[in-house]
Amino acid sequence: MDNFATLELAAIYGIAEIIKYTPPAPAVAPQTEDSWQVLESDLADCKLCGLCSTRPNSVFGSGNRSAELMFIGEGPGADEDKSGLPFVGRAGQLLTKMIEAMHYKREDVFIANVVKCRPPENRDPFQNEVDACIDFLHRQIRLVKPKVIVALGAVSVMHLLNLDTRISKLRGIFQDYEGIKVMPTYHPAYLLRNETKKRDVWEDLKQVMALLGKTP
Ligand code: URA
Repeated sequence: MDNFATLELAAIYGIAEIIKYTPPAPAVAPQTEDSWQVLESDLADCKLCGLCSTRPNSVFGSGNRSAELMFIGEGPGADEDKSGLPFVGRAGQLLTKMIEAMHYKREDVFIANVVKCRPPENRDPFQNEVDACIDFLHRQIRLVKPKVIVALGAVSVMHLLNLDTRISKLRGIFQDYEGIKVMPTYHPAYLLRNETKKRDVWEDLKQVMALLGKTP
């Protein structure tokens, strides 16, 4: 309490009341530090949106929890839903090749998604589902503390960066997420349908490699 406030209280209540005064406990308990263990158990129990009712597994994410490089997709597909692991289907196999082309092993990087449970028929997640889930991703990024994030596809870019710009306009241009460089690029599932776009993605990944001191 500063001197002025003390004098004011003295005028209103008298000295005796002020001596008795003890400041109230803070309304909000001090935040405990987040940890992987807490995060995993929060997700395992999560029922924050309707996607929990159709999941056999939530898909937490996998890889090096102190990685310098992180990949973020949109959400689990059928294979990921079954296995509980991210990017294990056909798109995932292509992602593994992309990672290896960058001179990393899959275990060297951390792979996560915007939503952790599969949207039915692989539709894009609804806004309320993203709103319910995105904090898991923010917490993961804060724990991993990567130097660079590669955001895979429009859904990932839009929700991670709160940007509604077309992915074709954003790709190849570094963005910022809380001081971390983010490279938006096409999703590997899109590359499976549009082989010619692989060249663009390679250009984007080469920029990421250069930033991380790797030679293509
Ligand atoms: N597509 C994604 O965006 N994420 C996965 O985990 C699998 C496919």
